[in-house]
Amino acid sequence: MERREIENLRTLMAYEKARKAPPAAFPKLPDIPAGRYTDPRYFELEKKHIWGKAWLFAVHLDELSEAGSFRLWENAGQPVLLVRTRAGGVNAFFNTCQHRGAPIVTETSGRRPLLTCKYHGWTYDHDGRLLAVKSPEDFQDLDLSCRSLVKVRCELFGKFVFVNFDEAAPSLLDWLGPIADDWQEFQFNRCRLAARHVFDLDCNWKVAMEANMEVYHIKNIHPTTVGAMLDDRQNVNTLYANGHARMVCPKLEPDGPARALAYGAPARAEIETVGEIGRTCTQSYNLFPNFVAPISQYGIPPLMFWPNGINKTRFEVWTVAPDWGDAPAPDMWTVNNGETLAQVLLEDTEFGAWIQKSMESSGFRGVPLSYQEARIYHWNQMADRIIGVDNIPQELRVEQVIGSEWIYPNDPRLAEVGQVLAAE
Ligand code: FES
Ligand SMILES: [Fe+2]
Repeated sequence: MERREIENLRTLMAYEKARKAPPAAFPKLPDIPAGRYTDPRYFELEKKHIWGKAWLFAVHLDELSEAGSFRLWENAGQPVLLVRTRAGGVNAFFNTCQHRGAPIVTETSGRRPLLTCKYHGWTYDHDGRLLAVKSPEDFQDLDLSCRSLVKVRCELFGKFVFVNFDEAAPSLLDWLGPIADDWQEFQFNRCRLAARHVFDLDCNWKVAMEANMEVYHIKNIHPTTVGAMLDDRQNVNTLYANGHARMVCPKLEPDGPARALAYGAPARAEIETVGEIGRTCTQSYNLFPNFVAPISQYGIPPLMFWPNGINKTRFEVWTVAPDWGDAPAPDMWTVNNGETLAQVLLEDTEFGAWIQKSMESSGFRGVPLSYQEARIYHWNQMADRIIGVDNIPQELRVEQVIGSEWIYPNDPRLAEVGQVLAAE
Protein backbone atom coordinates (compact mmCIF):
# COMPACT_ATOMS: atom_id res chain seq x y z
CA MET A 1 0.00 0.00 0.00
CA GLU A 2 1.35 3.38 -0.96
CA ARG A 3 2.48 5.84 1.69
CA ARG A 4 -0.18 8.37 0.71
CA GLU A 5 -2.93 5.77 1.12
CA ILE A 6 -1.56 4.79 4.54
CA GLU A 7 -1.53 8.45 5.59
CA ASN A 8 -5.11 8.89 4.40
CA LEU A 9 -6.17 5.85 6.41
CA ARG A 10 -4.45 7.12 9.55
CA THR A 11 -6.14 10.49 9.09
CA LEU A 12 -9.51 8.84 8.58
CA MET A 13 -9.05 6.71 11.71
CA ALA A 14 -8.60 9.86 13.76
CA TYR A 15 -11.59 11.38 11.98
CA GLU A 16 -13.81 8.38 12.69
CA LYS A 17 -12.87 8.41 16.34
CA ALA A 18 -13.52 12.15 16.69
CA ARG A 19 -16.76 12.52 14.75
CA LYS A 20 -19.95 13.04 16.73
CA ALA A 21 -22.29 12.09 13.87
CA PRO A 22 -22.08 10.44 10.46
CA PRO A 23 -20.11 12.50 7.92
CA ALA A 24 -22.06 15.58 6.84
CA ALA A 25 -22.23 14.39 3.23
CA PHE A 26 -23.28 10.83 4.03
CA PRO A 27 -26.86 10.02 2.97
CA LYS A 28 -29.54 8.71 5.30
CA LEU A 29 -29.90 5.02 4.47
CA PRO A 30 -33.45 3.84 3.77
CA ASP A 31 -34.47 0.52 5.35
CA ILE A 32 -33.43 -2.66 3.50
CA PRO A 33 -36.70 -4.49 2.69
CA ALA A 34 -37.09 -7.70 4.69
CA GLY A 35 -38.22 -9.61 1.60
CA ARG A 36 -34.71 -9.56 0.19
CA TYR A 37 -33.92 -12.33 2.68
CA THR A 38 -37.13 -14.31 2.41
CA ASP A 39 -38.96 -13.64 -0.86
CA PRO A 40 -38.48 -16.36 -3.50
CA ARG A 41 -38.74 -13.72 -6.22
CA TYR A 42 -35.60 -11.99 -4.97
CA PHE A 43 -33.86 -15.32 -4.49
CA GLU A 44 -34.55 -16.20 -8.15
CA LEU A 45 -33.22 -12.82 -9.29
CA GLU A 46 -30.04 -13.43 -7.31
CA LYS A 47 -29.65 -16.83 -8.93
CA LYS A 48 -29.99 -15.47 -12.42
CA HIS A 49 -28.07 -12.25 -12.15
CA ILE A 50 -25.73 -12.28 -9.16
CA TRP A 51 -24.51 -15.87 -9.49
CA GLY A 52 -24.75 -15.59 -13.26
CA LYS A 53 -22.73 -12.40 -13.75
CA ALA A 54 -20.23 -11.85 -10.93
CA TRP A 55 -16.71 -13.26 -10.59
CA LEU A 56 -16.79 -16.09 -8.05
CA PHE A 57 -13.84 -17.55 -6.18
CA ALA A 58 -14.02 -21.28 -6.88
CA VAL A 59 -10.78 -23.15 -6.22
CA HIS A 60 -7.17 -22.61 -5.21
CA LEU A 61 -4.52 -23.55 -7.72
CA ASP A 62 -2.96 -25.96 -5.19
CA GLU A 63 -6.08 -28.09 -5.68
CA LEU A 64 -5.18 -28.40 -9.35
CA SER A 65 -1.55 -29.15 -8.86
CA GLU A 66 -0.74 -31.26 -11.93
CA ALA A 67 -1.74 -31.47 -15.57
CA GLY A 68 -5.11 -33.19 -15.64
CA SER A 69 -6.00 -32.41 -12.02
CA PHE A 70 -9.65 -31.46 -11.85
CA ARG A 71 -12.28 -30.20 -9.41
CA LEU A 72 -16.02 -30.44 -9.78
CA TRP A 73 -17.51 -27.18 -8.54
CA GLU A 74 -21.26 -26.67 -8.11
CA ASN A 75 -21.49 -23.88 -5.52
CA ALA A 76 -23.16 -21.43 -7.89
CA GLY A 77 -25.87 -23.87 -8.90
CA GLN A 78 -24.47 -24.92 -12.29
CA PRO A 79 -22.07 -27.89 -12.58
CA VAL A 80 -18.58 -26.71 -13.48
CA LEU A 81 -15.46 -28.76 -14.12
CA LEU A 82 -12.12 -27.02 -13.57
CA VAL A 83 -9.06 -28.64 -15.12
CA ARG A 84 -5.34 -27.90 -15.08
CA THR A 85 -3.94 -28.06 -18.60
CA ARG A 86 -0.59 -29.45 -19.71
CA ALA A 87 0.52 -25.88 -20.41
CA GLY A 88 -0.13 -25.00 -16.76
CA GLY A 89 -3.29 -22.98 -17.25
CA VAL A 90 -6.75 -23.65 -15.88
CA ASN A 91 -9.88 -24.22 -17.93
CA ALA A 92 -13.45 -24.27 -16.68
CA PHE A 93 -16.25 -26.06 -18.52
CA PHE A 94 -19.79 -26.97 -17.81
CA ASN A 95 -19.56 -30.57 -16.60
CA THR A 96 -21.86 -31.50 -19.44
CA CYS A 97 -21.04 -33.92 -22.19
CA GLN A 98 -22.05 -32.53 -25.57
CA HIS A 99 -23.61 -35.84 -26.56
CA ARG A 100 -26.51 -36.38 -24.19
CA GLY A 101 -25.54 -34.30 -21.20
CA ALA A 102 -23.99 -36.90 -18.95
CA PRO A 103 -21.44 -35.56 -16.49
CA ILE A 104 -17.81 -35.68 -17.56
CA VAL A 105 -16.76 -36.27 -13.96
CA THR A 106 -18.77 -37.37 -10.94
CA GLU A 107 -16.00 -37.19 -8.31
CA THR A 108 -15.26 -33.96 -6.47
CA SER A 109 -11.62 -34.06 -7.49
CA GLY A 110 -9.08 -36.27 -9.18
CA ARG A 111 -6.75 -36.46 -12.16
CA ARG A 112 -7.46 -37.45 -15.73
CA PRO A 113 -5.12 -37.62 -18.73
CA LEU A 114 -8.19 -37.11 -20.93
CA LEU A 115 -11.77 -36.24 -20.14
CA THR A 116 -13.86 -39.22 -21.13
CA CYS A 117 -17.59 -39.29 -20.60
CA LYS A 118 -18.65 -42.42 -18.80
CA TYR A 119 -21.94 -42.78 -20.62
CA HIS A 120 -20.83 -43.50 -24.21
CA GLY A 121 -17.16 -42.69 -24.06
CA TRP A 122 -16.84 -39.40 -25.91
CA THR A 123 -13.35 -38.13 -25.16
CA TYR A 124 -12.23 -34.52 -24.76
CA ASP A 125 -8.84 -32.98 -24.08
CA HIS A 126 -8.06 -30.48 -21.31
CA ASP A 127 -8.98 -27.64 -23.64
CA GLY A 128 -12.42 -29.18 -24.05
CA ARG A 129 -11.88 -30.27 -27.69
CA LEU A 130 -13.78 -33.40 -28.64
CA LEU A 131 -11.06 -35.81 -29.79
CA ALA A 132 -12.98 -38.99 -30.44
CA VAL A 133 -16.41 -40.57 -30.28
CA LYS A 134 -17.18 -44.25 -30.16
CA SER A 135 -18.56 -45.72 -33.42
CA PRO A 136 -18.17 -42.54 -35.44
CA GLU A 137 -19.45 -44.45 -38.50
CA ASP A 138 -22.91 -44.42 -36.95
CA PHE A 139 -23.19 -40.63 -37.03
CA GLN A 140 -23.95 -38.59 -40.08
CA ASP A 141 -21.90 -35.43 -40.56
CA LEU A 142 -20.85 -35.19 -36.96
CA ASP A 143 -18.37 -32.31 -36.89
CA LEU A 144 -16.22 -32.93 -33.81
CA SER A 145 -14.87 -29.39 -33.89
CA CYS A 146 -18.38 -28.06 -33.15
CA ARG A 147 -18.89 -30.30 -30.13
CA SER A 148 -16.31 -29.02 -27.68
CA LEU A 149 -17.17 -28.76 -24.01
CA VAL A 150 -18.79 -25.42 -23.28
CA LYS A 151 -16.36 -23.11 -21.54
CA VAL A 152 -17.03 -21.00 -18.48
CA ARG A 153 -14.85 -17.94 -18.06
CA CYS A 154 -12.03 -18.57 -15.66
CA GLU A 155 -9.30 -16.14 -14.57
CA LEU A 156 -6.70 -16.17 -11.85
CA PHE A 157 -5.55 -13.66 -9.30
CA GLY A 158 -2.32 -15.23 -8.10
CA LYS A 159 -3.33 -18.79 -7.22
CA PHE A 160 -6.97 -17.86 -6.64
CA VAL A 161 -9.13 -19.23 -9.44
CA PHE A 162 -12.32 -17.30 -10.17
CA VAL A 163 -15.10 -18.21 -12.60
CA ASN A 164 -17.77 -16.13 -14.27
CA PHE A 165 -20.75 -17.39 -16.31
CA ASP A 166 -21.19 -14.08 -18.12
CA GLU A 167 -19.42 -13.61 -21.44
CA ALA A 168 -19.96 -9.86 -21.19
CA ALA A 169 -18.45 -9.41 -17.72
CA PRO A 170 -15.31 -7.28 -17.38
CA SER A 171 -11.98 -9.03 -16.81
CA LEU A 172 -11.28 -10.21 -13.26
CA LEU A 173 -8.66 -7.49 -12.86
CA ASP A 174 -11.07 -4.78 -13.96
CA TRP A 175 -13.67 -6.24 -11.63
CA LEU A 176 -11.27 -6.05 -8.67
CA GLY A 177 -10.14 -2.54 -9.62
CA PRO A 178 -7.90 -0.84 -7.03
CA ILE A 179 -8.20 -3.83 -4.68
CA ALA A 180 -5.84 -5.74 -6.96
CA ASP A 181 -3.16 -3.13 -6.16
CA ASP A 182 -3.79 -3.39 -2.41
CA TRP A 183 -3.40 -7.15 -2.67
CA GLN A 184 0.01 -7.17 -4.34
CA GLU A 185 1.89 -7.21 -1.03
CA PHE A 186 -0.03 -10.27 0.20
CA GLN A 187 1.49 -12.69 -2.32
CA PHE A 188 -1.67 -14.35 -3.59
CA ASN A 189 0.63 -16.00 -6.10
CA ARG A 190 2.82 -17.75 -3.50
CA CYS A 191 0.69 -18.50 -0.45
CA ARG A 192 -0.40 -22.12 -0.17
CA LEU A 193 -3.77 -23.67 0.52
CA ALA A 194 -3.58 -24.74 4.16
CA ALA A 195 -7.17 -25.63 5.06
CA ARG A 196 -10.63 -25.69 3.55
CA HIS A 197 -13.84 -26.74 5.32
CA VAL A 198 -17.57 -26.46 4.81
CA PHE A 199 -20.35 -25.85 7.34
CA ASP A 200 -24.12 -25.68 6.89
CA LEU A 201 -25.96 -22.73 8.38
CA ASP A 202 -29.71 -22.34 8.77
CA CYS A 203 -30.17 -18.85 7.38
CA ASN A 204 -30.18 -16.91 4.15
CA TRP A 205 -26.62 -16.58 2.83
CA LYS A 206 -26.70 -12.78 3.17
CA VAL A 207 -27.62 -12.98 6.85
CA ALA A 208 -24.50 -15.07 7.41
CA MET A 209 -22.28 -12.88 5.28
CA GLU A 210 -23.39 -9.57 6.76
CA ALA A 211 -22.02 -10.58 10.16
CA ASN A 212 -18.66 -10.11 8.49
CA MET A 213 -19.35 -6.74 6.89
CA GLU A 214 -19.46 -4.45 9.90
CA VAL A 215 -17.74 -3.99 13.26
CA TYR A 216 -20.80 -2.44 14.92
CA HIS A 217 -21.45 -5.84 16.56
CA ILE A 218 -18.02 -6.66 17.89
CA LYS A 219 -18.28 -5.34 21.43
CA ASN A 220 -21.53 -7.28 21.86
CA ILE A 221 -20.88 -10.66 20.37
CA HIS A 222 -17.09 -10.82 20.54
CA PRO A 223 -16.35 -9.30 23.98
CA THR A 224 -13.38 -11.54 24.70
CA THR A 225 -12.15 -12.23 21.16
CA VAL A 226 -11.99 -9.66 18.36
CA GLY A 227 -14.01 -7.17 20.44
CA ALA A 228 -11.07 -7.04 22.83
CA MET A 229 -8.61 -6.89 19.97
CA LEU A 230 -9.86 -4.01 17.83
CA ASP A 231 -10.43 -0.30 18.34
CA ASP A 232 -13.76 -0.28 16.52
CA ARG A 233 -14.32 3.48 16.94
CA GLN A 234 -11.39 4.02 14.59
CA ASN A 235 -12.68 1.68 11.93
CA VAL A 236 -12.48 3.06 8.39
CA ASN A 237 -14.75 1.65 5.70
CA THR A 238 -13.87 2.23 2.06
CA LEU A 239 -16.35 1.60 -0.73
CA TYR A 240 -15.19 0.49 -4.18
CA ALA A 241 -16.84 0.16 -7.56
CA ASN A 242 -18.70 -3.11 -8.25
CA GLY A 243 -20.00 -3.40 -4.69
CA HIS A 244 -16.67 -4.29 -3.09
CA ALA A 245 -15.50 -2.72 0.17
CA ARG A 246 -12.66 -2.68 2.67
CA MET A 247 -12.50 -2.17 6.40
CA VAL A 248 -9.34 -1.10 8.17
CA CYS A 249 -9.58 -1.23 11.94
CA PRO A 250 -6.53 -0.72 14.17
CA LYS A 251 -5.68 -3.46 16.63
CA LEU A 252 -5.28 -2.72 20.32
CA GLU A 253 -2.98 -5.67 20.90
CA PRO A 254 -2.04 -7.32 17.63
CA ASP A 255 -0.94 -10.69 18.94
CA GLY A 256 -2.49 -10.70 22.40
CA PRO A 257 -4.65 -13.35 24.05
CA ALA A 258 -7.83 -12.18 22.32
CA ARG A 259 -6.37 -13.13 18.97
CA ALA A 260 -5.28 -16.53 20.20
CA LEU A 261 -8.75 -17.10 21.61
CA ALA A 262 -10.51 -16.02 18.42
CA TYR A 263 -8.78 -18.09 15.78
CA GLY A 264 -8.25 -21.82 15.42
CA ALA A 265 -4.59 -22.39 14.63
CA PRO A 266 -3.11 -19.18 13.32
CA ALA A 267 -0.12 -19.33 11.03
CA ARG A 268 3.29 -18.63 12.47
CA ALA A 269 5.10 -17.97 9.20
CA GLU A 270 4.74 -14.45 7.81
CA ILE A 271 4.36 -12.89 4.40
CA GLU A 272 7.35 -10.62 4.66
CA THR A 273 6.11 -8.07 2.10
CA VAL A 274 2.96 -7.18 4.06
CA GLY A 275 3.03 -3.53 5.04
CA GLU A 276 2.20 -1.49 8.08
CA ILE A 277 -1.59 -1.51 7.75
CA GLY A 278 -1.82 -5.27 7.29
CA ARG A 279 0.33 -5.81 10.37
CA THR A 280 -1.25 -3.31 12.74
CA CYS A 281 -4.91 -3.36 11.71
CA THR A 282 -7.57 -5.77 10.65
CA GLN A 283 -7.56 -5.16 6.91
CA SER A 284 -10.56 -6.97 5.55
CA TYR A 285 -12.17 -7.02 2.12
CA ASN A 286 -15.56 -8.02 0.98
CA LEU A 287 -15.64 -8.76 -2.72
CA PHE A 288 -19.05 -8.70 -4.29
CA PRO A 289 -20.92 -10.97 -4.05
CA ASN A 290 -19.79 -13.48 -1.41
CA PHE A 291 -16.07 -13.33 -0.55
CA VAL A 292 -14.91 -11.89 2.79
CA ALA A 293 -11.27 -12.03 3.88
CA PRO A 294 -9.31 -10.33 6.64
CA ILE A 295 -5.80 -10.49 5.22
CA SER A 296 -2.60 -10.01 7.17
CA GLN A 297 1.04 -11.04 7.33
CA TYR A 298 -0.25 -14.44 8.50
CA GLY A 299 -2.20 -15.16 5.35
CA ILE A 300 -5.35 -14.89 3.30
CA PRO A 301 -8.34 -16.65 4.87
CA PRO A 302 -11.46 -16.22 2.69
CA LEU A 303 -14.92 -16.89 4.05
CA MET A 304 -17.34 -17.81 1.28
CA PHE A 305 -21.14 -17.74 1.56
CA TRP A 306 -23.23 -19.76 -0.91
CA PRO A 307 -27.01 -20.16 -1.05
CA ASN A 308 -28.24 -23.66 -0.41
CA GLY A 309 -31.86 -22.74 -0.82
CA ILE A 310 -33.38 -19.49 0.38
CA ASN A 311 -32.85 -20.15 4.10
CA LYS A 312 -29.72 -22.30 4.07
CA THR A 313 -26.09 -21.31 3.65
CA ARG A 314 -23.13 -23.36 2.59
CA PHE A 315 -20.35 -21.67 4.54
CA GLU A 316 -16.83 -22.34 3.24
CA VAL A 317 -13.86 -21.37 5.37
CA TRP A 318 -10.42 -21.27 3.80
CA THR A 319 -6.92 -20.65 5.09
CA VAL A 320 -4.29 -19.74 2.52
CA ALA A 321 -0.96 -19.06 4.18
CA PRO A 322 2.74 -18.50 3.60
CA ASP A 323 4.82 -21.67 3.51
CA TRP A 324 4.59 -23.33 6.94
CA GLY A 325 7.50 -25.69 6.41
CA ASP A 326 7.42 -28.69 8.73
CA ALA A 327 4.92 -27.19 11.17
CA PRO A 328 1.29 -28.35 11.01
CA ALA A 329 -0.68 -26.50 8.34
CA PRO A 330 -2.40 -23.46 9.87
CA ASP A 331 -6.19 -23.35 9.97
CA MET A 332 -7.56 -20.00 11.11
CA TRP A 333 -11.21 -20.82 11.05
CA THR A 334 -11.73 -24.22 12.64
CA VAL A 335 -10.78 -26.35 15.60
CA ASN A 336 -9.56 -29.94 15.21
CA ASN A 337 -9.37 -29.88 11.44
CA GLY A 338 -12.94 -28.88 10.75
CA GLU A 339 -14.63 -30.38 13.80
CA THR A 340 -16.11 -27.03 14.80
CA LEU A 341 -15.82 -23.42 13.75
CA ALA A 342 -13.24 -21.33 15.57
CA GLN A 343 -14.56 -19.20 18.44
CA VAL A 344 -14.88 -15.96 16.46
CA LEU A 345 -17.02 -17.68 13.82
CA LEU A 346 -19.15 -19.45 16.41
CA GLU A 347 -19.89 -15.96 17.69
CA ASP A 348 -20.56 -14.54 14.22
CA THR A 349 -22.93 -17.35 13.26
CA GLU A 350 -24.72 -17.69 16.59
CA PHE A 351 -27.82 -15.68 15.64
CA GLY A 352 -28.18 -16.71 11.99
CA ALA A 353 -31.00 -19.20 12.44
CA TRP A 354 -32.75 -16.89 14.92
CA ILE A 355 -32.53 -13.95 12.55
CA GLN A 356 -33.88 -16.04 9.71
CA LYS A 357 -36.85 -17.11 11.84
CA SER A 358 -37.60 -13.49 12.73
CA MET A 359 -37.23 -12.37 9.16
CA GLU A 360 -39.82 -14.93 8.12
CA SER A 361 -42.21 -13.75 10.85
CA SER A 362 -44.58 -10.85 10.40
CA GLY A 363 -42.74 -8.98 13.15
CA PHE A 364 -39.92 -8.07 10.85
CA ARG A 365 -40.31 -5.09 8.55
CA GLY A 366 -36.92 -4.04 7.31
CA VAL A 367 -33.37 -3.21 8.28
CA PRO A 368 -32.33 0.32 9.28
CA LEU A 369 -28.56 0.46 8.77
CA SER A 370 -26.17 2.91 10.39
CA TYR A 371 -23.27 4.71 8.75
CA GLN A 372 -21.00 2.13 10.41
CA GLU A 373 -22.86 -0.57 8.41
CA ALA A 374 -22.51 1.26 5.09
CA ARG A 375 -20.70 -1.64 3.45
CA ILE A 376 -23.89 -3.68 3.69
CA TYR A 377 -25.96 -0.95 2.06
CA HIS A 378 -23.35 -0.46 -0.66
CA TRP A 379 -23.47 -4.21 -1.35
CA ASN A 380 -27.25 -4.07 -1.68
CA GLN A 381 -27.07 -1.18 -4.14
CA MET A 382 -24.71 -3.22 -6.31
CA ALA A 383 -26.98 -6.25 -6.05
CA ASP A 384 -29.85 -4.25 -7.49
CA ARG A 385 -27.69 -2.80 -10.23
CA ILE A 386 -26.38 -6.18 -11.36
CA ILE A 387 -29.93 -7.60 -11.27
CA GLY A 388 -31.25 -4.53 -13.07
CA VAL A 389 -33.39 -2.27 -10.90
CA ASP A 390 -36.35 -2.54 -13.27
CA ASN A 391 -36.37 -6.33 -12.91
CA ILE A 392 -37.00 -6.06 -9.17
CA PRO A 393 -40.49 -5.68 -7.69
CA GLN A 394 -40.73 -2.15 -6.29
CA GLU A 395 -41.14 -3.30 -2.69
CA LEU A 396 -37.93 -5.33 -2.79
CA ARG A 397 -35.62 -2.65 -4.18
CA VAL A 398 -33.14 -0.54 -2.28
CA GLU A 399 -32.79 3.11 -3.19
CA GLN A 400 -29.48 4.06 -4.77
CA VAL A 401 -28.59 6.75 -2.23
CA ILE A 402 -24.82 6.27 -1.87
CA GLY A 403 -23.50 8.13 -4.90
CA SER A 404 -20.25 7.85 -6.84
CA GLU A 405 -18.77 10.61 -4.68
CA TRP A 406 -18.33 7.88 -2.03
CA ILE A 407 -16.64 5.39 -4.32
CA TYR A 408 -12.85 5.09 -4.02
CA PRO A 409 -10.73 7.10 -4.67
CA ASN A 410 -13.42 9.69 -3.91
CA ASP A 411 -14.00 10.25 -0.21
CA PRO A 412 -15.95 13.25 1.09
CA ARG A 413 -14.62 12.55 4.59
CA LEU A 414 -11.20 13.81 3.56
CA ALA A 415 -12.70 17.25 2.89
CA GLU A 416 -14.31 17.30 6.32
CA VAL A 417 -11.34 16.01 8.31
CA GLY A 418 -9.80 19.33 9.37
CA GLN A 419 -13.09 20.63 10.71
CA VAL A 420 -13.91 17.54 12.77
CA LEU A 421 -10.43 17.14 14.19
CA ALA A 422 -10.25 20.87 15.04
CA ALA A 423 -13.48 20.53 17.06
CA GLU A 424 -11.87 17.85 19.22
S1 FES B 1 -23.57 -38.51 -22.91
FE1 FES B 1 -21.42 -38.41 -22.95
S2 FES B 1 -20.86 -39.80 -24.42
FE2 FES B 1 -22.99 -39.92 -24.43
FE1 LIG C 1 -17.90 -10.59 13.90
